[in-house]
Amino acid sequence: MIEVENLTKRYGPTLAVSGVSFQVQKGEVLGFLGPNGAGKTTTMRIITGFLSASSGRVRVAGFDVAEAPLEAKKRVGYLPENPPVYTDMTVNEYLAFVGRIKGVARTELKKRIAEVSEKCAVADVQNRQIGKLSKGYRQRVGLAQAMIHNPEVLILDEPTAGLDPKQIIETRELIKGLAGQHTVILSTHILPEVSKTCQRVVVINKGTVVAMGAPDELTARLQGYGTVLVTAEGPAPEITSKLQTVPGVTLVEQRESSGPRITLEVHTEKNHDVRAELARAVVQSGWGLFELKTSGMSLEDIFLKLTTRDLGEEAAAQKELPAGGGEAKAEN
Ligand SMILES: Nc1ncnc2c1ncn2[C@@H]1O[C@H](COP(=O)(O)OP(=O)(O)O)[C@@H](O)[C@H]1O
Ligand SMILES: [Mg+2]
Repeated sequence: MIEVENLTKRYGPTLAVSGVSFQVQKGEVLGFLGPNGAGKTTTMRIITGFLSASSGRVRVAGFDVAEAPLEAKKRVGYLPENPPVYTDMTVNEYLAFVGRIKGVARTELKKRIAEVSEKCAVADVQNRQIGKLSKGYRQRVGLAQAMIHNPEVLILDEPTAGLDPKQIIETRELIKGLAGQHTVILSTHILPEVSKTCQRVVVINKGTVVAMGAPDELTARLQGYGTVLVTAEGPAPEITSKLQTVPGVTLVEQRESSGPRITLEVHTEKNHDVRAELARAVVQSGWGLFELKTSGMSLEDIFLKLTTRDLGEEAAAQKELPAGGGEAKAEN
């Protein structure tokens, strides 16, 4: 539904986006994740046709946003990072105003306003002035205006920024509910957002894509091995050698010890659950087993790993990850 191909944008000397490529399937909610200044807003403004690219191309439902802007725009709803707020208009007036700009037929307008107001939970404030609404309501009005012309594609730039925790949950639920009927790209610099709302994530840093995939797929791929922490009581060297003999175990390292109790970090082959065998090995040797738990990398760790590594490591990582933008980076 959305194809972004080798997109590059320069603002004078600043290379804001460099060789970004990704695709979004129909009905998918894609998270566009990256720290501030990564190039999220720039990319989204190009997809929505508000900004032209320096090079590369974007297609929405098969229409090139530069060559067939009207056809493309018809299919796109956009919630900008800082939605324009006509504070003295009522919600109804504002939605009618945007609807007319977007070319919604007069006869359809009332029905559309009722539909999006219902969907975005702003029907109860339809006659209130936007300026007097809470931030949460205002954000939902922003979402409603993005949907007024019933676009197939929704581009939402940091839709939960500035909301309180309750409003964040409500907005997330609302966006999740759009999946299937709409194709959504939502940008965020907050990690829990993507794991809670999105089926797939594109991670962008300094204008290039550094990884993409399902949130848990990213974890597994980046880590490359599983980790189990084993806490046992017994002689450390013997336990270590014993655990090393368990099939699927690649490395055993001592983490901590207090008295006779030690904690070992056991690395295992990917997707290889060896916990039962580890437990058996400890217990059958007559040692005490106190705890056994898997320890995965959190999405936080991954994000840090992806966005703080130096360029050499980045290039290497891009070889192992099928992410777009790898070529552009190699040229730098
Ligand atoms: N209008 C502009 N003029 C010059 N530089 C800009 C402009 N807009 C964004 N930039 C720069 O481009 C980079 C990417 O910005 P942006 O796309 O807003 O990132 P994000 O949305 O991920 O925070 C940043 O370095 C930013 O300073
Ligand atoms: Mg931004």
